[in-house]
Amino acid sequence: MLLASRLDRLGTETAFAVSQAAAEWGARGHHVYPFHLGDLNLPTPAAIVEAMNVAIGNGRTGYCPAAGITPLRDALASDVGARRGLSYGAENIVVQPGGKPVIGKFIQAVMEPGEEVLYPNPGYPIYESQIEYFGGTGLPYRYVETPTGFALDLDHLASLITPKTTAIIYNDLQNPLSAESSAEEMEAVAELAQRHDLFVLSDEAYFEMRYSGSSRSIVSIPGMQERSVILYTFSKKFAMTGWRLGAAIAPRSIADVITKINTNDESCTTHFVQWAGVEAITGDQAPSAALRDVLRHRRDAAVEAVNAIPGLHTACPHATFYLFVNVTGAMGALGFDDVADFASAALHSTGVSFCTRRHFGRPQPGESQQYIRLAYSGIDEFEIREGLGRLRAWVTA
Ligand SMILES: Cc1ncc(COP(=O)(O)O)c(C=O)c1O
Repeated sequence: MLLASRLDRLGTETAFAVSQAAAEWGARGHHVYPFHLGDLNLPTPAAIVEAMNVAIGNGRTGYCPAAGITPLRDALASDVGARRGLSYGAENIVVQPGGKPVIGKFIQAVMEPGEEVLYPNPGYPIYESQIEYFGGTGLPYRYVETPTGFALDLDHLASLITPKTTAIIYNDLQNPLSAESSAEEMEAVAELAQRHDLFVLSDEAYFEMRYSGSSRSIVSIPGMQERSVILYTFSKKFAMTGWRLGAAIAPRSIADVITKINTNDESCTTHFVQWAGVEAITGDQAPSAALRDVLRHRRDAAVEAVNAIPGLHTACPHATFYLFVNVTGAMGALGFDDVADFASAALHSTGVSFCTRRHFGRPQPGESQQYIRLAYSGIDEFEIREGLGRLRAWVTA
């Protein structure tokens, strides 16, 4: 008996293997510094938990509409619209069990098998997986390192587009690079999308996970709203990763299709969790701001400690909770060619656990620099300093 051949095209998040290696090392009695986790070790604000308990007490335990409960769709339409200078109604909102399902549902809605979709590489690995799984061809586009972070290689991006290209996945405030487009860069991506009549998935998972300045959405650029779907998630801003709550925010025609996919896939997102979402958006925002303050302190500690290690360097991102650290110098000094070997040796020598560039898409021809990703969302400030101090001692020994 053979399983379906399409499963050969389904990718995964190989970063979970890093968790496994870290857990095994920890189980052998070693201290592990978990910089690999793209998760938060901070609790969901109490009022949100309470709202869920009240919803269960009130019997909100049955099915609800496939697109989500109206109070949550209304709240999302006004909140997401107001923060981006856009006008949305409940008909544009399709509640999802997390932000991640929006990726595959967007692709199912806009891509025919055989068509091409542009996606960032390094980038969130599920884009590539879902494009290929649904029979498309992924076109990875790249970034270049700058003194202040990472910028899109716009010429390369433009050169990839063919008549078969139907969509672009764009993740400003990017995982893993923490890249943030300048206004000009974002305009250029929007111009390409319009010139080539592309659909756009704007993955805005980190739109409100920022420490200074303000986020812009590509969807706010004239001519973009009608071709774009926003991936919205409660996971990061409200420390709700395990609750599985997010939304697709889309033009009516795409929202209706995604609703139909919801009906087929999960009927509806967990009913009482949606009431917690209403509280998250409409309730007191102070706990979410406090959460960001904690993360800002961690970012500052991590950036300082990384840049104190010879052969490592990182810019200081204004958003997300990742540092994409150039480790080329340290690897050369320690005699490593392979970043996976470097990561494994670092874990076994210092307990510091992290993902590498390899966990974020297939490396592209011509890449000469080596990178690791440090997530500071799942590790306390003291541990950040201690772990990176150990890494420094190992690199300089
Ligand atoms: C860029 C990006 N998009 C989407 C997601 C999915 O978020 P969720 O946990 O809400 O499914 C993540 C999660 O880490 C992410 O980093």
